[in-house]
Amino acid sequence: MNASAASSHDSIRAVLWQGDHLRLLDQRRLPAEETYVDCRSAAEVATAIHDLTVRGAPAIGIAAAWGVVLAAQNEPERLDAALAQLRSARPTAVNLMWALDRMKRVGADAAALAREAQAIQDEDLAANRRMGELGAALLGDGVGVLTHCNTGSLATAGYGTALGVIRAGFAAGCIARVYAGETRPWLQGARLTIWELLRDGIPATLIADSAAAHLMRSGAVQWVVVGADRIAANGDTANKIGTYQLAITARHHGVKFMVVAPSSTVDMATASGSDIEIELRTPDELLGYAGQRTVVAGAQAWNPVFDVTPAALIDAIVTERGVVERPDAARMAELFRRAR
Ligand code: MRU
Repeated sequence: MNASAASSHDSIRAVLWQGDHLRLLDQRRLPAEETYVDCRSAAEVATAIHDLTVRGAPAIGIAAAWGVVLAAQNEPERLDAALAQLRSARPTAVNLMWALDRMKRVGADAAALAREAQAIQDEDLAANRRMGELGAALLGDGVGVLTHCNTGSLATAGYGTALGVIRAGFAAGCIARVYAGETRPWLQGARLTIWELLRDGIPATLIADSAAAHLMRSGAVQWVVVGADRIAANGDTANKIGTYQLAITARHHGVKFMVVAPSSTVDMATASGSDIEIELRTPDELLGYAGQRTVVAGAQAWNPVFDVTPAALIDAIVTERGVVERPDAARMAELFRRAR
């Protein structure tokens, strides 16, 4: 597929460096409002990451890199403290730690740090385009695809990971229908993925997360295509809560399961999924919606926001370096010899 076909369905950018501040499309307010938050310090970037103003594994790594640039520009004496503060903003997506390690290796020069942050952002976009080609080539013709969470331009430098494969597959004419799970409780699928796909002219159908098994049994989807927050050395994959049950359901119905993530999401220093820290967020995300309490006072809730899909349930991991089919530790090591 040529570049213009790929870019014709890719108009959104969520992380915008402005020279002296970082502008973020506020993902808490979409799709009702398209507003931006301007961050002028590393602390403001860390808060934006923690509060999900910016979200999605690659996007939070990119935002954090620009946060380091802001620290170097405005408070160079606090550079180490800024790195630590950004690192602790969220625990699961390894792209955050990967980007900060890269920035730390550059040193303290603000101009050199800005070049590195721009390189991280540019490389992510290029990786997404490459993964789009590689993943779309696996799909087959006239397929239905189910995706989860938001893995698109909003979650990356642009184009997206799983949504990049969907963009490329749609442009190549091999996708008949895209389904997006609503992704309770934060509704990344309902609020963000549907908005992003419709904005870029890709028709998509929303389903309740709980409709996935019924959808798969109907024969309407041949692939589940998702992103990742951290892929362990054996191929176990942490992604948005609900991904694991989609993988189990897919295997039961003979539906293929594809994980799409750049090599910055692959953590060869983590042996298996059981070593990945799973972020727990406030129970308030479950007990109410948009500031409105929906569950009786006094109720308790447990809110893990990621889960781990065992490698054995994954048919293909697509990275910009290549595709690992039926991933395991040996096949992952073949593609990712260099440990983090
Ligand atoms: O909590 P979020 O919205 O940051 O979670 C995002 C996901 O789980 C995505 O699937 C993952 O980061 C890949 S984004 C290209």
